[in-house]
Amino acid sequence: MPDRDLRAWMAQLEAEGDLKRITAKVDWDDEISQIIRKVYVQEGPALLFENIKGHEATFSRKLFTNGLGTRSRVNLMLGLPKNTSPTETTQTIRNRMKKPLEPVRVKTGPVKENIIKGKDVDLFQLPVPKWHPLDNGRYINTFNATVTKDPDTGQNNAGVYRGTILSKNKIGVLLMPVKDWGITYSKYQEMGKPMPVAFVYGWDPTLIVVAGSPVIGPEYDLAGALRQEPVELIKCETSDIEVPASAEIVVEGFMSPDPSTYEIEGPFGEGSGFYGEARKRPVVEVSCITHRNDAIYRGSLVGTKEGLTEIRASVSTMMSVVLWNTLEAAEIPGVLDITSGPITAVKIHKTYQGQPRQIAAAIWGSKFAGHPFNILMVVEEDVDIHNPAALIGVMHHKVNFDRDLVVYPLYMGSPIDVRVRYDLRAELEYGAAVTSKLLIDATTDWELHPVREEWGNQRLPPNCHYSRPETEELVERRWEEYGL
Ligand SMILES: Cc1cc2nc3c(=O)[nH]c(=O)nc-3n(C[C@H](O)[C@H](O)[C@H](O)COP(=O)(O)O)c2cc1C
Repeated sequence: MPDRDLRAWMAQLEAEGDLKRITAKVDWDDEISQIIRKVYVQEGPALLFENIKGHEATFSRKLFTNGLGTRSRVNLMLGLPKNTSPTETTQTIRNRMKKPLEPVRVKTGPVKENIIKGKDVDLFQLPVPKWHPLDNGRYINTFNATVTKDPDTGQNNAGVYRGTILSKNKIGVLLMPVKDWGITYSKYQEMGKPMPVAFVYGWDPTLIVVAGSPVIGPEYDLAGALRQEPVELIKCETSDIEVPASAEIVVEGFMSPDPSTYEIEGPFGEGSGFYGEARKRPVVEVSCITHRNDAIYRGSLVGTKEGLTEIRASVSTMMSVVLWNTLEAAEIPGVLDITSGPITAVKIHKTYQGQPRQIAAAIWGSKFAGHPFNILMVVEEDVDIHNPAALIGVMHHKVNFDRDLVVYPLYMGSPIDVRVRYDLRAELEYGAAVTSKLLIDATTDWELHPVREEWGNQRLPPNCHYSRPETEELVERRWEEYGL
């Protein structure tokens, strides 16, 4: 795969007939997001909005979105055939992640074509949509990498964290102390120093899928592994943070350690499908913007009725990867497949009683615990975990509700999880939301079901879905005769 930036990725999509340019004039206030909603439902193309009201003459005039809206585009990102199965996609990512590629450092790059500092900084120059009518302003950070540097190790960390434009040079953010940048922030707070931050908009899509998932390891190296090409990094203008040299736009700034500087952030229409509430939260004061000529802004709509978003297609694949890697690192045997979503399902070949609880303990003992995926189901070979009906079906014949539902109480979770009582979602107070997790052990319980000779040494009665093979063959042969 040649070195790929956002423009090369867009060209790839366009060549596949998977990119639509919208030249009609559209309003950033609600109209763009309603268009995206409809395109999500149609599983439609990536979109480039080229004519946005009020942005005819701003330094960034165009918005790119929905680049990862379908599984086939996620496969394209990896250079795989578009119809590669979910399990194969997951395995490809896992294999590539085993060989992280160190970034290379460069002295200059297209992102430095324009440098704006001081009073010239104006975030309203970016064509940021108002994604939902009740959002507290224009959410600039929806699908960009937020990069910080650990002051002890000097390691860059990239995550995806929401943020809104509060004024020309201020961005209010949702920072959970439990997340990587939250841990870095607490180090700066202890030193009494502002934390440098860089927001990267528009680059190779592999960075966003890695940054948006709780991967273990440096995100730039892992993005390099996924794109099979090292990331070319360049230093920011006002801090030591490093960013991709061919990014479209980089916003640099500092987050004060002082809680008296916090400002109201939210409401924001969240991935949960509800508005996340307004609270006083940390603020990034912008020190510099660097951007390419004719810079393309990147954003994404979350919080749709059908749950269809580009995050579902891309980040949920990465979540399966992260879970599988977690279980592999814990050396838990027998994992055959994993899918993540409202119900996260792990398919196993069961070789001992207690294996499902061990899996739950490993997953909820990992970084994944801070995510709004709260139901984990463990099943065996006979269940198609990619079919939600099969997951419901297996509840009927495998789950004994008095033994197989395990609630992990008072545990960390996500502040966007609206099941959780309002005050327990205060992420700055508790570090994360205080919530509970559920394990559904839908494997055959060996204590209840010893093997029985009359069932062919199986633990459950034989399955009755089939006729004898010779009858199946007979019916096949005579099918036309039946007139059906
Ligand atoms: C579109 C999108 C928006 C997200 N918004 C937030 C957010 O506002 N705050 C947050 O803590 N995590 C958010 N996340 C989840 C983090 O990106 C995720 O936890 C990631 O693992 C963070 O990296 P870290 O584990 O290195 O901190 C979001 C993820 C996506 C895909």
